[in-house]
Amino acid sequence: MSSQDKGLEIFKSATTGAREPLRLHVRSYGCQMNVYDSQRMADTLAPHGFVETATADDADLVILNTCHIRERAAEKVYSELGRIRVLKEQAAEAGRRVTVAVAGCVAQAEGEEILRRAPVVDLVVGPQSYHRLPDMLARSRAGRVVDTEFPVEDKFDHLAQPKPAKVRERGVSAFLTVQEGCDKFCTFCVVPYTRGAEVSRPVDRILGEAERLAQAGVRELTLIGQNVNAFHGEGPDGRTWSFARLLYRLAEVPGIARLRYTTSHPRDMDDDLIAAHGDLPALMPQLHLPVQSGSDRMLKVMNRVHTRADYLRVVERLRAARPDLAFSSDFIVGFPGETDAEFEDTLRLIAEVGYASAYSFKYSPRPGTPAADMPQLPEAVKDERLQRLQAEILRVQNAFNASCVGRTLDVLFEKRGRHPGQMVGKSPYLQAIHVMGPSALVGKIVPVRVTEQLSFTFNGVLAGASPFLETEALAPLPVGA
Ligand code: SAH
Ligand code: SF4
Ligand code: F3S
Repeated sequence: MSSQDKGLEIFKSATTGAREPLRLHVRSYGCQMNVYDSQRMADTLAPHGFVETATADDADLVILNTCHIRERAAEKVYSELGRIRVLKEQAAEAGRRVTVAVAGCVAQAEGEEILRRAPVVDLVVGPQSYHRLPDMLARSRAGRVVDTEFPVEDKFDHLAQPKPAKVRERGVSAFLTVQEGCDKFCTFCVVPYTRGAEVSRPVDRILGEAERLAQAGVRELTLIGQNVNAFHGEGPDGRTWSFARLLYRLAEVPGIARLRYTTSHPRDMDDDLIAAHGDLPALMPQLHLPVQSGSDRMLKVMNRVHTRADYLRVVERLRAARPDLAFSSDFIVGFPGETDAEFEDTLRLIAEVGYASAYSFKYSPRPGTPAADMPQLPEAVKDERLQRLQAEILRVQNAFNASCVGRTLDVLFEKRGRHPGQMVGKSPYLQAIHVMGPSALVGKIVPVRVTEQLSFTFNGVLAGASPFLETEALAPLPVGA
């Protein structure tokens, strides 16, 4: 028995009076990278006897996979830890020991400080050290453990892959991290500090993972990275592959019908990638392309290293390659020094691009980033601008959604809906679409005529005769029942 296995045995018997299997609750905050990492952590702990549970209430091990991007996101962790402290005390009274781990970007940014602020925490693990989790758990009975190194080995080579049954349980759409970290150093952003330098995974590993997912039933892959289109991984031919080349190769993987990627930077939208949007039917016509601001001066102070005109040119070229492409973006309002006129430039950009959706944030000063030391705007100004920005986003978003009603869109069905006989799937534009249909629709891509927009979702009816529908003899059922 290895020392890690021995340590885990001690961990288990000290945990429960040996309840088997141990229950693991992982909660993700922040971006999709965290969702992916949380799955990998659960996959890595599964062979050590941990099964996932949906709530912290009955868990033996709770992992909070945290986000440091804005102050509120980071503070949420501490309020959640307060709640978990109560659970931990109640469990202790019942003779059960609960172990609490903080992972993710707050773990990386605050390290030891978390142990000081939150005595409930047993271990702190940074995003690059998740493969060491079993070992850390084994050591945690001897004292609290912190690991926020940027190790030389690649965590992805050591993190376990899910079993096919687990992949099926997670659904027909999966995330796949292809790139991590960021070298761009936007002046507002903590990511280069919490996730480290930009690193791309080797192509053969990504392909292997994509093939395994596809064999287990995944139809849609979303390639993720903080700077996903800066990808430059080592190819099986020993050469460096661009992101576009990776997409062309992944489009050939049998079973993978849809490809998406997020988050991309306007600066890394090269000619080949723009061309791929025209060439690859599997590449969905929806692109998250954050711009942050419509003002050239703001973009400069933010160190985005592109102008408003550069961005609009990229959007125009992408639309020329793929006319039905819909865009989404992130916006920051109230960045230090932003004037009314500069804010208005952002409003005008939103109208000009006509986004299908967008996320917007009040600027939040983050420790250690250059913008945190610049003179700050009053909170009331940020609040007022956020409201106006969100109203404008809502306006263009509603216009886009309204334009989808009456259209026939290909829908990838994911699961049953809340009502009997109802099925839910995603349009190419990531809209949730409900139809009445058989549960055999799961994993199928079927044309749907969109009939009605509800507040956040759509109703539709199965349209056209696909080979699948002919064998299923669908009864015509009322929509939205
Ligand atoms: N890599 C992505 C963004 C990752 S962070 C990119 O370059 O676009 C997700 C979003 O959070 C950012 O796009 C930005 O809009 C927002 N954000 C980042 N730091 C922030 C801060 N300090 N205050 C407010 N919003 C912030
Ligand atoms: Fe942050 Fe900018 Fe890097 Fe995006 S590109 S992760 S906003 S530093
Ligand atoms: Fe948050 Fe870290 Fe992602 S700071 S947005 S979880 S990279």
